[in-house]
Amino acid sequence: MTNDYEFILNDSKERALKFLAQVDERRVFPHQQAIDGLSAFNESLPEEGLGDLNTLDLLDRVGAPAAVANMGKRYFGFVVGGSLPVAVAANWLMTAWDQVASYHLTSPMADRVEKVAAGWILDILDLPRESAVGFVTGATVASFTALSAARHKILNDQGFDVENDGLYGAPKITVVVSQEVHVTILKALSMLGLGKNNIIRVPTDNNGAIDITKFPELGPNTLVCVQAGNVNSGAFDPIDEICTLAHKAGAWVHVDGAIGLWARTSKKLADQVKGIEKADSWSTDGHKWLNVPYDNGIVICRHKDALRGAMSTVAAYVRGAEDAAKDVVPEFSRRGRGIDVWAALRSLGRKGIGQMIERNCNQARNLAAELKNIENIFIHNDVVLNQIVVSYGTEDMTKTLIDYMQQEGTCWFGSTIWKGRETFRISISSWKTTDEDIILTAEAFRKAVAVLAQK
Ligand SMILES: Cc1ncc(COP(=O)(O)O)c(C=O)c1O
Repeated sequence: MTNDYEFILNDSKERALKFLAQVDERRVFPHQQAIDGLSAFNESLPEEGLGDLNTLDLLDRVGAPAAVANMGKRYFGFVVGGSLPVAVAANWLMTAWDQVASYHLTSPMADRVEKVAAGWILDILDLPRESAVGFVTGATVASFTALSAARHKILNDQGFDVENDGLYGAPKITVVVSQEVHVTILKALSMLGLGKNNIIRVPTDNNGAIDITKFPELGPNTLVCVQAGNVNSGAFDPIDEICTLAHKAGAWVHVDGAIGLWARTSKKLADQVKGIEKADSWSTDGHKWLNVPYDNGIVICRHKDALRGAMSTVAAYVRGAEDAAKDVVPEFSRRGRGIDVWAALRSLGRKGIGQMIERNCNQARNLAAELKNIENIFIHNDVVLNQIVVSYGTEDMTKTLIDYMQQEGTCWFGSTIWKGRETFRISISSWKTTDEDIILTAEAFRKAVAVLAQK
């Protein structure tokens, strides 16, 4: 051993590679036996340390069999995606280097590479190049961060200092969201003291996009949250038109693009994502469709000063921190998660990312077409992105099919409620999923329905 790290890191590499070599062949969701085995972790805190190898061994031996194979080819749950090899590797290196991506002085390399990644994000998503970009834990925090900037600007424009004075006595902000707003936008609004109830919800059309004919009159103290990619159907709100209306009124538009912002990487999807660049702020995820490891969201804000006004931290011991990463995100100290993004963008390039997004969208359309031909299967949405909303006969039959497929193990997807009805949602978001996997999945559905029809 040349140092304390060598043995344990080599050991973990071998274990990781063994897991990844099997991940496509194993059941997607673990067997109950493996889940029951997790009781081995219920130890009391050891007085004497049990050692590195012993610890890693328990994690791998008991943990790996009960892990979900979302790194596999046919995991269609929750818009999860897998992780690109280069992004896993960059993530490992950054963990080994233990860099703190707060600002230049904590890590010149993390600061530089994240700044390059930030520029590339604006380029590939074709968003205003003057925007600030921050790397956060996920789309929830990205939206929270962007909405903090919105709150700052709306109140600051009226001479109110919310960061110092709080919301006590502040002018009211009118919040407008879709009837189908993602729950995490509501959480962000509640964390900002704007509440979940005190908002206007605009009705949606059959595909879950805001119905523009029902859009309310807007005033200047207004914050509008729209979606690029409904979590169930993948639908896009009419963002172009909404931005025009909102900006006439002096309102702020935030785009929750956790999933759908990535459609801007493909020319074929350009129609749906037109006008998104007119908004004031955007949130998206690296850990979903960009296929980088978890703990990776991105906030983008046209109004740099507003974002800094909401997020910057000043401390006597932090010197020379102009343009610091810590001033556009909630965290003071954090890992260099933007480097995973940089690695994915650099390795695949503009073309490769666009092709990955288009491929998943084609696969979703093809799978929907196959499923539509199976008796009693109904597709509820226009498949405009990578999402399919499906039912099988009655609500009870739908639940039975979900259970059957989850047990059968060819693929995994979860249940949802669509327009008040029990359905399931298939999200194709992995770089690994091949057209062959779509054929295998359709075949598994056909067999399942044949078996269930006999019962
Ligand atoms: C549309 C939408 N917005 C926000 C989120 C929250 O993202 P995260 O889990 O990365 O915080 C999700 C996650 O599923 C989503 O689909």
